[in-house]
Amino acid sequence: MELEFKLFQKEKKKNIESIDQELLNFCIKFNEDHTLYCSEKEEAYTFMKVLTSSVYGMHKFKTVNYNRYIENNLLNWYFSITSSDKGNFNNGINLLYYLFLNIQVKNKGFNERRDLLLQEALDFILSENKNLFELEQINEVDSKDLTFYINNKINAVVDFSFFPISDFKEEFIFIRIVQVGEVCFKLINSKIKKIISDINNDIYNKQYLKEIIFLTDVLHISARILKTMSPDHFLEFRALTLNASAIQSYIYQEMDILMLGMNPLKIPFYEKIPELKKLCEIYDTTTVNLKSLVKNDKILDESFCSMLGEFNKKMLKWKAIHIGLAMSYIPKKAEGTGTKEGIDYLSKVLKDSIFE
Ligand code: HEM
Repeated sequence: MELEFKLFQKEKKKNIESIDQELLNFCIKFNEDHTLYCSEKEEAYTFMKVLTSSVYGMHKFKTVNYNRYIENNLLNWYFSITSSDKGNFNNGINLLYYLFLNIQVKNKGFNERRDLLLQEALDFILSENKNLFELEQINEVDSKDLTFYINNKINAVVDFSFFPISDFKEEFIFIRIVQVGEVCFKLINSKIKKIISDINNDIYNKQYLKEIIFLTDVLHISARILKTMSPDHFLEFRALTLNASAIQSYIYQEMDILMLGMNPLKIPFYEKIPELKKLCEIYDTTTVNLKSLVKNDKILDESFCSMLGEFNKKMLKWKAIHIGLAMSYIPKKAEGTGTKEGIDYLSKVLKDSIFE
């Protein structure tokens, strides 16, 4: 196992054409031959499986989608060990911190404003979560062996959940910030599920809302960091990302449904995108969501309701910042990546709010 792991540690390569044949063969074998490694420890096997599946997926489908691009398998693997609610949130915050720290380490001196904003993000996370961290610098991958990654899942995700498809420097920050977004969406999503089921039992857990509000602040600051990328730099690698679009994020779309209900405008996308098809089986227009709970006067705690209002406002603000990003980085009249309408699509979903 160690020998094979070293093989994977070779610097991760760009697109499918340039991946070493040796590495590619290893990933194919690992992904297709389920019996080959069953004698290995379960944990190590699962780790190697998620680690190689990105390369394998690109080989198989010859295309990049959102989930392969941001290595969603690794994020899922990282979160899968956490069963308790508290662990999930703490793990998520640690990961957010490490992702920002990783951008800071790799970008130092490249852009002065970015340096300042990254420090602001790190300070913000620490000030809100004082006792969470055992800080350590992120070291280079080479010094670590497989056991290290199995035992330190956070480093595994930060070191490997990045599969660049170009040599352009700014692709790094782009993927990392999108990963930060996915982690926030994951955590917000799990809290909303709990809030909805609690309200059914007349329980109003303000701690969940406090955490959700903190996560929307992380979304805002990460968008400000991304904004330090110049539009020219974005266009350098955009075409290479093929059809990868965050519209394909299952976790975001599920969060959207639980906040606002099933949007008929989105159903055609859910049906078309393989990763999202399941949403149409699980949810429909009658699904209970935060908006329907407010509308039907089911939220009886006033201060809880006002915190929900704050979350709603911050989420609307994130959507406005995001559409601003799309307008600054995508040339006028150009199509989106996941939709032909691009910015028009975003304008249509922009104002959807928990409070009408
Ligand atoms: C340069 C930066 C960005 C640009 C130009 C951009 C552009 C777009 C566009 C045009 C869409 C519409 C769907 C499509 O045609 O692909 C979209 C959707 C989306 N983007 Fe971005 N985006 C950027 C950054 C981000 C970041 C950093 C995140 C995550 C934090 C994000 C999350 C999303 C989500 C979740 C959707 C789906 C929205 C929905 O279906 O309601 N985007 N983006």
